[in-house]
Amino acid sequence: MADKKKLFVKTYGCQMNVYDSERMTEALGGQGYETTPNPEDADMILLNTCHIREKAAEKIYSELGRFKPLKVENPELKFAVAGCVAQAEGEEIIRRQPMVDLVVGPQSYHKLPAMAKSVEDGNTAIDTDFPLEDKFEHLNKRPKAARAPSAFLTVQEGCDKFCAFCVVPYTRGAEVSRPSARVLDEAKQLVDQGVREITLLGQNVNAYHGHPGGLSGLIWALAEIDGLARIRFTTSHPNDMDDALIDAHGTCDKLMPYLHLPVQSGSDKILKAMARKHTAAQYIEIIERLRQKRPDLLLSGDFIVGFPGETEEDFQDTMSLVRAVGYGQAYSFKYSARPGTPAAEKATVDDATATDRLHRLQALLSEQQQAAQKAMVGRETTVLFEKPGRDPGQWVGKSEHLQAVHVPTDKAGKGDLVRVRITTARTNSLQGEFLEIVR
Ligand code: 5AD
Ligand code: SF4
Repeated sequence: MADKKKLFVKTYGCQMNVYDSERMTEALGGQGYETTPNPEDADMILLNTCHIREKAAEKIYSELGRFKPLKVENPELKFAVAGCVAQAEGEEIIRRQPMVDLVVGPQSYHKLPAMAKSVEDGNTAIDTDFPLEDKFEHLNKRPKAARAPSAFLTVQEGCDKFCAFCVVPYTRGAEVSRPSARVLDEAKQLVDQGVREITLLGQNVNAYHGHPGGLSGLIWALAEIDGLARIRFTTSHPNDMDDALIDAHGTCDKLMPYLHLPVQSGSDKILKAMARKHTAAQYIEIIERLRQKRPDLLLSGDFIVGFPGETEEDFQDTMSLVRAVGYGQAYSFKYSARPGTPAAEKATVDDATATDRLHRLQALLSEQQQAAQKAMVGRETTVLFEKPGRDPGQWVGKSEHLQAVHVPTDKAGKGDLVRVRITTARTNSLQGEFLEIVR
């Protein structure tokens, strides 16, 4: 049998790209490719790109430039660009960097095996269409490999919200939900392969409508799967947090007490300019309702500072909202104008001011994150063991609240769900003592 061809994959950006890279790797497996961690050994280099913030395309061009010597050494080496930069730039990528052989947008990954074949025959291949089919259905069945105990599963893609700053509706297209029968099949396959925690992915995952009752309906159906211990979902929009989903946080044992619910700003004026279609008070009310159902819910958010028109007073509204909510985790960004989005037409806040606001916001958020970590000390939680820690005799896994926990023990191993008492809080992780294996 011919030697396997080697594939090097580099993934940028969000968790959906992590999932997509895995599926693309599996699809190319059918074409005789296996992955390598070394670009020097590769027959194909695949960059799965992200376009959400500034200079994304430029970074990909300079990344390609860095890989260029490998092409000189091995003229047969193929370059593929996937993801949202591929979608946004299309054939411009091959025009600017003729070394690239293949450009594929996020909605065309099921065509990748045929495109790779065509590229091997010496052609270039470009596909950035938005077909009306479930690309995952056309990708290979997931192989029977043993898996890490936690996995991502994309259930919804695209976005119809058109926030004024965001490229996602343009790069990922309109909202599409995968039918729940397919999602449940894939979940069962994953569980058969040893997966115990599934994170449902979607750009607007709580707008999922592939199951009666929407996302909470799907969560309840997943909760029926024996062997699946934990369910999470990300990313959500406040306007799609319906009552049933809020209730599920109080009633579904398998749904973990962690929610990523971006608000972007605490100023009603800025929220309006961002076209978020909710106010700061409405957001806070949703959080209060969630916490009534699940008092220990850990909140995570996304924030943008320096959006066009943001004054110091608007920024202070964001700081007040952060104080009112109390986040355990958060991501904050300086606004960056994305060509083609409505906000890109507006005058920007000067960079020094935006940077200063970002630092002040991040100081507050990291104070809150530290407080949330410290609040865990002395508490019991379950941890799903994922891998051995760097120190011998330790296991590392995630708490129910998605915090990394290190546990010294030889009584449990990979894939075990373990009851642990938290003993120490560090900046980015917790330390705990083994109590018992739960299941
Ligand atoms: N500038 C800065 N941050 C952005 N995000 C999305 N678009 C932009 C932009 N143009 C942030 C938002 C979003 C997260 C994924 O990235 O906070 O929730
Ligand atoms: Fe972008 Fe807004 Fe859609 Fe989120 S909800 S993907 S920020 S347009």
